[in-house]
Amino acid sequence: MSKLQTGSRKRSTTSLQLKKNAGEKLSMITCYDSTFAKLINKTDVDMVLVGDSLGNVMMGYKNTLSVTVEDMCRYGASVARALESALLVVDMPFMSYNVSTPETLKNAAQIVRETGCQAVKMEGGLQICEGLKACVDAGIAVMGHLGLTPQSINTLGGYKVQGRDEEAAERILSDAIALEKAGAFSIVLEMVPSNLAKRVSETVKIPVIGIGAGAETDGQVLVLQDLLGMDSEFKPKFLKHYANLGEVIISAISEYDNEVKTKVFPGEENSFS
Ligand code: KIV
Repeated sequence: MSKLQTGSRKRSTTSLQLKKNAGEKLSMITCYDSTFAKLINKTDVDMVLVGDSLGNVMMGYKNTLSVTVEDMCRYGASVARALESALLVVDMPFMSYNVSTPETLKNAAQIVRETGCQAVKMEGGLQICEGLKACVDAGIAVMGHLGLTPQSINTLGGYKVQGRDEEAAERILSDAIALEKAGAFSIVLEMVPSNLAKRVSETVKIPVIGIGAGAETDGQVLVLQDLLGMDSEFKPKFLKHYANLGEVIISAISEYDNEVKTKVFPGEENSFS
């Protein structure tokens, strides 16, 4: 079977757009290291996001505000070294793109150069369009992010559903149109009512990837560790656990601990003569 037939061909912003045009759904997951990237290579996932959620998942911060460009480069490069077919998107962290257009270009270029990713992602609407357009004009593909934008957690007042009232919904819709016009190739839409997500996905031509945005978006994204059930107690409404890896891992480590202490491990078969 050829690579074309298996669908394992390297994804591009163009091939993802063609999928939306054909009415095919797109899948995206986060990933922060090469071990998981190698496993993702065995699947047909379309896009991998090195999200600044690595601040929570990998670095133990309470939110994403402490993550730096250097952190994104370090984790992004780890994924890029292993990832094959999926399109790799790396988040631009807090205040790396909202200060000035030259700063935005410099930081986006550093992330692309040091990781080898195919695109960067920025949170926000109209207010980021100048910097976003400058990146696209310079040849950097950019994904937008609307709805719940975790880098604005302190002004949003918590991790809650956005766009519930008419004015907020209209703002999200007009921001999506502005991002598309500025040249974004796709938009993540986080924690908005399903009917708003449907409206946005039908209004803009570029793929809209939802998280907590219902079933009518062009694709879905989840945090890898969340969908794997690494923390069985973390189960917000929008999340589905596809495995209970947390329990599997705890059980394996406990068995190892027990075997070391009871002198079962290492056995003859694990020892050199
Ligand atoms: O940082 C992240 O992981 C994200 C996704 C949740 C979309 O932005």
